[in-house]
Amino acid sequence: MNSQPTRLGYVNGSYVPETQSGVSVFDYGLLYGQTVFEYTRTFNLKPFRLDKHIERIFNSMKYSGIDCGMSPDELTKATLETIDKNLPTLADGDEFTIWHNITAGLRDDYAQFLPENMSGPRILINVFPLSITRPWVWQQQQEGASAVITRQRSTPAQLLDPKVKNRSRLYYRIAEIEAARIKPASIALLTDEDGYITEGTSSNFMIVKDGQLISPRPKNILRGVTRGALIEIAQSLDIPFIEDDIDKYDAITADEAFFCSTSYIIMPVKILDDHMIGDGQTPGGITTQLADGFSELVEVDFMSQGRELTGLAEFYASSVQTPDLNMATNV
Ligand SMILES: Cc1ncc(COP(=O)(O)O)c(C=O)c1O
Repeated sequence: MNSQPTRLGYVNGSYVPETQSGVSVFDYGLLYGQTVFEYTRTFNLKPFRLDKHIERIFNSMKYSGIDCGMSPDELTKATLETIDKNLPTLADGDEFTIWHNITAGLRDDYAQFLPENMSGPRILINVFPLSITRPWVWQQQQEGASAVITRQRSTPAQLLDPKVKNRSRLYYRIAEIEAARIKPASIALLTDEDGYITEGTSSNFMIVKDGQLISPRPKNILRGVTRGALIEIAQSLDIPFIEDDIDKYDAITADEAFFCSTSYIIMPVKILDDHMIGDGQTPGGITTQLADGFSELVEVDFMSQGRELTGLAEFYASSVQTPDLNMATNV
């Protein structure tokens, strides 16, 4: 029995139960991966740097040939409204993650044979409780993550630019499967065609060497919102920062290394392939300074919040929502 109100998803201007916020099997998003997306989270129920995520999704749409017919302000307003509408579904103390998925819409030659309300780009905004992912994120943050450099490479910017946050992500998924096969629960770390480190499958990567924070050059990576915030924090703390080529040697001989993303904020790396990073104590000194600076910025101690949210899974287990198998005709 559902004891929780149903989460609502925004679909092209309407709010429908989450289980109905899907896409047609004839959508370019499914057929070609012509979907752009964003993943944002709240701190104290306020979305962190939503303006940056909205700016990025509009840039991604421009690159991918998608015109969603909305302005950035309208998409922002719809996002805030989606959060508000779903507040009654959230456990006390929890936060929302916010998914934007925008597809190119129905394949042109099929559209006239399908219901009119299915045509055009599909604009989906969904929220989900942050706590659902916290047990494993929190555990890895405490223990220090293992990372595996995969044979699967990033796509170079001249083929499909990783600065575009898009759903043609098969190569990321293959990298994750490969990493899990080599070392269960490890995080895949990708390289570019020259063997320089790029990023994780859903996070950026940085190292610390001799007191300096070093990021891969921003050409073949997604320019993460979290990465941007951490660079600003480093600058405010007078931690020297550079963007440079990082090869495997640089990474395994670094003093500290971490992944960073909306989901992790900071995920310290303890082991890379078979090598201990630094003295194996995570988080290292500069990583800790950056993590503290981030907590100060968002006015939430994100590490201890992770611990506090690990107990909430049971609360949501009682609200599992049954999929509506007629979804495609209902919208
Ligand atoms: C490939 C990739 N790199 C980096 C990031 C981190 O970006 P952000 O900090 O904006 O979440 C993500 C986030 O999903 C990602 O998918």
